[in-house]
Order: sequence, then C-alpha cells, then structure tokens
Amino acid sequence: MARAISHFDCFSICVTLALTISCRVCGSAPLQKRSPLFVLGDSAVDSGNNNYIDTSPGYRANYRPYGQNGYFGEPTGRFSNGRVVVDFVAEYAGLPIIPPFLQPSAEFIDGVNFASGGAGVLPETNRGQAIHLQKQVNNFEEVQKSLTQKYGEARARELISEAVYFISIGSNDYMGGYLRNPKMQEDYSHEQYVGMVIGNLTKTILVLYEKGGRKFGFLSLSPLGCLPALRALNHKADTDGGCFEEACALAQAHNNALKLVLTSLEHRLKGFKYCISNFYDWLLDRINNHSQYGFKDGMNACCGTGPFGGIFTCGGTRDIPDYQLCDRADDYLWWDSVHPTEKLHQQLAKALWNGPPSSVGPYNLQDLFLSKDKLIIEDEVDDPDIVSVF
Ligand SMILES: *[C@@H]1O[C@H](CO)[C@@H](O)[C@H](O)[C@H]1NC(C)=O
Ligand SMILES: *[C@@H]1O[C@H](CO)[C@@H](O)[C@H](O)[C@H]1NC(C)=O
Repeated sequence: MARAISHFDCFSICVTLALTISCRVCGSAPLQKRSPLFVLGDSAVDSGNNNYIDTSPGYRANYRPYGQNGYFGEPTGRFSNGRVVVDFVAEYAGLPIIPPFLQPSAEFIDGVNFASGGAGVLPETNRGQAIHLQKQVNNFEEVQKSLTQKYGEARARELISEAVYFISIGSNDYMGGYLRNPKMQEDYSHEQYVGMVIGNLTKTILVLYEKGGRKFGFLSLSPLGCLPALRALNHKADTDGGCFEEACALAQAHNNALKLVLTSLEHRLKGFKYCISNFYDWLLDRINNHSQYGFKDGMNACCGTGPFGGIFTCGGTRDIPDYQLCDRADDYLWWDSVHPTEKLHQQLAKALWNGPPSSVGPYNLQDLFLSKDKLIIEDEVDDPDIVSVF
C-alpha cells in the first residue's frame, strides 16, 4: 500500500512538472513569436491615416457621428460607427490595436496600418485626396528600414516574413475612378480597366513578396452596385433602385481575375500563402437575407440622406450639410452610404478568421497567423530530395 502511494505521488509530481513546463512553453511562445499585421488599402480598413494628410473633410471620418458607439472614446477616423474588420482580426490574433502609419510615435513591432480612405490601386483614383497603394508600399519600406535599425537585420526579416499582409483595395478604382469618370470609360473598356487594376495590384503583391512578405489576406470586392450610394444613383436613373448592375459586374470581373492571379502566384512563388474572402456572395446573402443575420435593414444607410440614405452626407462635412441618423446602428448593414456598420465588420472578421470554405479560402486568417512553423520548414527546404523526406 505504502509503495503504491509513493508510486502515485511520484506520478502526480511528474505530471505536475510536465504540465508546468509545457504550460510555460505554450504560455510564452505565442507572445514572443506572434505574427505582426500589416494593413494596406482603403476606407474599409483605414484606422486614421487620413487624419494626418492634406485632404478634404469628405475623405475623413474623425468627427461625429463616426465612432459614435464610443468603443474608442472619440472618433478616430474609422469609417464606421465603431471598429472595423482589422480591429477584430488583431484581437483574434492576440495583437493590440494596430496603429496608423502616420500616427506620431507609433510602435511598429506588432504591425502597421497604411490604409487610406479613398485610396485605389491606381494613382489616378481620387488623386491628391488619399494615399494610393503604391505610396502605401513605399511607406511599408520605411517601416521595414526602421524595424531593421531597431531590431537588427535577422529579427526584422523574421517579423516581415511571419507577418500577415491584409489588403482591401479596388472599390474606389471602380466607383470613383471609373464609373464617375467619363474620360476613363471612354479610354478603357471594362476588360481593359480591370486588367489595369489587377496588373498593378499583382505588381504590388510581387513587391511585398520580394521584400519578404509571405502571408496575404484579401478582402475581395463586395457587390458594389448594392451599396446605398449606388442604389441611389440607379434610383436617379429612373429605375427601381435595385442594385446598380454595371458596378456589380465590374466587382465580379475584378474578383474573378484576382482569384486567377492568386492561384498562379501560389504555384510560382515559394512559400506564398493567401486567404481570400468570398465577400461578394457573403455580403449579397446578408443584403438579401438580413434578418437571418440579426439585421433589420440590408438596403438603407443608417447615416446619410436621400433615397436609401445613399447621398454621402454623414457628418455634414461634404457639400450637403443635412443628414439623418438611425436610432440603432446595429440594426443596419450600412453605416453610411458606402461603409458597413461595426456589427457587419465583426461578422466579416469572424468569417475571415475561421469561417467555412464557402466564405474564405484556401487558408483562413487563423491558419495564416498560426502556421509559422510549417512556413519556416517549407521556406528552408531548397533541395527537392529533402522535400520528399517530409
Ligand atoms: C498600371 O496602371 C497604369 C495606369 O496608372 C497603367 O498605365 C499600367 O499599364 C498598369 N500596369 C499594369 C502592369 O497593368
Ligand atoms: C437567402 O437565403 C436563402 C435560404 O434561406 C437562399 O436560398 C438564398 O440563396 C439566399 N440569398 C442569397 C442572395 O444568398
């Protein structure tokens, strides 16, 4: 009996020790090795960069009622009533809120947000009002340099390759850059224009890859023609105020082309991994079946004026000072005439993080943030004979 007890004691001590050791390992490892998040793109993900650039108030959102749910205390420049998708992604990844690049004395080790409301892939899109994609990549290069200076070459390289690059871009190229620009429409067919946008976007992805980026997340384009602003345009054209089909067709053409590009890059570029949302169908489902997802309205903007709240007046800083504000933003998909509410952003982040293959693929964001070891092994295997051993 005594023997049995001592045996038992030893066993429990060993188990306790083992648990203590392994818990210490798993407790500290994610903190030291977590992946940074770099965000590039437009107003869907801008967290305040436009507060610091020379632009018109219409390209800013650092005034009420933006940010009115009070999550950040006061308006931050996010084009929403509260948080946006990348804030939730950072939270799920165990990261703090990712600072805008232009915020003075921002820390870069957990990532940086380069996005700018109004930005497009093409420098021509909203020229002079926003930080276009190419410029955002230049800013990323600045951050890379500063990380190298601060943490040394090896650590900086590790941070850059472990980071997830989340990109939301293209909507402005089609909505402002093309559909509201008769000259562009004259010069380029739909196919040519989509080709130009995708060509430049591909170039950007290749530059980021060359700099060491390996893990990419893409927010594909939404059914642009169903945004309250574009429904309102359609309404003026004396139709039924349904979705503006030409805008939807451009978004679909863009999404199809981007999917092809990413599939081909995955085969061509060693270690390149990506996740892309099926944002188009995902959002159309919510627009048409809003009540199944906890919304009362999938068509009108909470903040704005005119048909569908589709005239972009939220906050009253643009040409028309009048705007109406709904009582409960959480009932709506659309916060203003082109931007989703925090509630929709949160549902989107969940879908990207670990949603079903119908919403996100070939990887989801959780895979990208947690697959570091696998990536490093693959990256270091140069000899195809060694690959077959694994
Ligand atoms: C990139 O966009 C410019 C217009 O800004 C266009 O002239 C050029 O052909 C595009 N490049 C690619 C690779 O498509
Ligand atoms: C709306 O939901 C129904 C099922 O309830 C589904 O058949 C339909 O495809 C959905 N609409 C969209 C646009 O996804």
